[in-house]
Amino acid sequence: MQVKSFEEYQQVYRKSVEQPEKFWDEIANNFLWKKKWDKVVEWNFVEPNIKWFKGAKLNITENCLDRHLEKNGDTPAIIWEPNDPTEHHRILTYRQLYNKVCQFANVLKNNGAKKGDRICIYMPMVPELEIAVLACARIGAVHSVVFGGFSAQSIADRIKDADCNIVITADGGFRGNKVIDLKSIIDDALVQCPSVEKVVVLTRTRTPVSMLKGRDVWWEDEIKKVETQGNTECPAEEMDAEDMLFILYTSGSTGKPKGVVHTCGGYMVYTGYTFSNAFQYEPGEVYFCTADIGWITGHSYIAYGPLSQGATSVLFEGIPTWPNSSRFWDIVEKFKVNILYTAPTAIRSLMSFGDEALKGKDLSSLKKLGSVGEPINEEAWHWFDEKIGHGNCPIVDTWWQTETGGFMISPIAGVTPTKPGYATLPLPGIQPILVDENGKEVKGNGVSGNLCIRFPWPGMLRTTYGDHERCRTTYFAAYPNLYFTGDGCLRDEDGYYRITGRVDDVLNVSGHRIGTAEVENAINMHSSVVESAVVGYPHDIKGQGVYAFVICPDQEHEPELTRKDILMTVSRIIGPIAKPDKIQFVSGLPKTRSGKIMRRILRKIAEGDTSNLGDTSTLLDPGVVDEIKAGAL
Ligand code: WT7
Repeated sequence: MQVKSFEEYQQVYRKSVEQPEKFWDEIANNFLWKKKWDKVVEWNFVEPNIKWFKGAKLNITENCLDRHLEKNGDTPAIIWEPNDPTEHHRILTYRQLYNKVCQFANVLKNNGAKKGDRICIYMPMVPELEIAVLACARIGAVHSVVFGGFSAQSIADRIKDADCNIVITADGGFRGNKVIDLKSIIDDALVQCPSVEKVVVLTRTRTPVSMLKGRDVWWEDEIKKVETQGNTECPAEEMDAEDMLFILYTSGSTGKPKGVVHTCGGYMVYTGYTFSNAFQYEPGEVYFCTADIGWITGHSYIAYGPLSQGATSVLFEGIPTWPNSSRFWDIVEKFKVNILYTAPTAIRSLMSFGDEALKGKDLSSLKKLGSVGEPINEEAWHWFDEKIGHGNCPIVDTWWQTETGGFMISPIAGVTPTKPGYATLPLPGIQPILVDENGKEVKGNGVSGNLCIRFPWPGMLRTTYGDHERCRTTYFAAYPNLYFTGDGCLRDEDGYYRITGRVDDVLNVSGHRIGTAEVENAINMHSSVVESAVVGYPHDIKGQGVYAFVICPDQEHEPELTRKDILMTVSRIIGPIAKPDKIQFVSGLPKTRSGKIMRRILRKIAEGDTSNLGDTSTLLDPGVVDEIKAGAL
């Protein structure tokens, strides 16, 4: 599945556009199927209706586990590094992982789980998180993983939206010097969720928890039961290629997060193919992706992609800056990591600690580097290249989205000539197109526009859970017959792509996607807030920071306290990751006569660029702009 030279890439790319069915047919033949497909792809972007590998049967865990047992059963699948560096690391070989997945799959069955059930997973970054994910896939249950930084309210919203009947969690999770009381947060969420019948709780932090009779069970007790039953094998459920594999919620420009749906066959092929090709993964290499499994990067490139290719992955529980800012480099040295895949926000943060943190660290094992989540600025790119890669590791800047399932525009390591700040060229099978505001194609090079994709690929989303119409309007209605990404993009003189950032009301804060409407709704929940408007502004470490303009007449007496109360409200409603970096109290917002907030003006003020605010004559009350400008933070 790997192309080995730039000429070969160009050839393969051409073929993938001219004969997409033939191209994907060949790629799909590298995977293990219970039954092959009748048709490679059937699609229209109108409804939309997208079916890959129609008629095929498979179970993704057989590709990720069973098929490696005979030859590579003793190869490490997961090298787990705990939060606390003095705690012992753990290694799980493919055989051990297989056994644990089968065992836990039987635990799920014992607790009533069936094919098609939705199961919510809210866990720390421990091997059991990956085991839980794979166990769901083994029995054909649909997992919905919720990142540990989300609040009880956000979890409840997700559980209700997907109508989950089981939750898998832990007593708590370690992150740096903090303990997060996961079970207690789940308990708060479940007050609103009568659909949940069982909660399986893993012991991790030994935080005191309350276990509800009949509902809550301990992971360890349930495993013992399975062992005494002698119930250690678990046949893989036969899944249709288009059966749902998982739901993952992501923010958009409207208030409510959407449940992006991925299906079994196409997602398996796409994540396995892109992982193998873009990273040029060779057997024996140690791969370290620093993302959390709670995000799509973790789903596709910690769990499914690497496992389907028999790779050895480092799974890290902690954070890059604890116990100190050398942590990543210590891990690279300890496990002789060959491929490091991380995010610009982490790079910028580690860069800010200076070269001291790198002193004496042996990074010579590194061969390839990767970046994901947001545009990487040139300074961070060069630092990554020189200080971490010592000038001889290709940087794979992978552009993709929760909705795309896997890499879309990305260099192929060592094959595609790179350029700082550029995701470079589309991978084989991917047909990008730039369009202007009116949907007219922007042709040629040295141009920019809104980034769309004109032909389906196996890893793309199929729907948004429970609301297909929302999927259609969000991604397929802006420009007829195109998938709209929500990103702006530049294509330079060489035909290289550079993503310039979102063109909708979505922020990218430390690589996390946050909808401005969602944050506004949360702020407006505070009893003394009348109205608010949230925009992004450039932030040195996070890429974008959250700037909130808030109308709150009561704050005059104690602005500091009100500010803290608002932060607390956002934390409670969404989670700590969405807390505004800046809150400016204002007496009014710049609105048009029809009542629409002119965000363009607020964005400029938040960016500190007030010299040219453009035309403000259509504003209802132009005076409010001067007041906001004067009070800008
Ligand atoms: C948005 C998707 C893809 C996994 C992590 C984020 C931005 C992502 C890049 C990149 C420039 C990037 C885009 C995209 N983005 N990767 N390499 N260069 N921008 O997934 O939460 O679904 O966010 O992240 O704006 O639309 P996500």
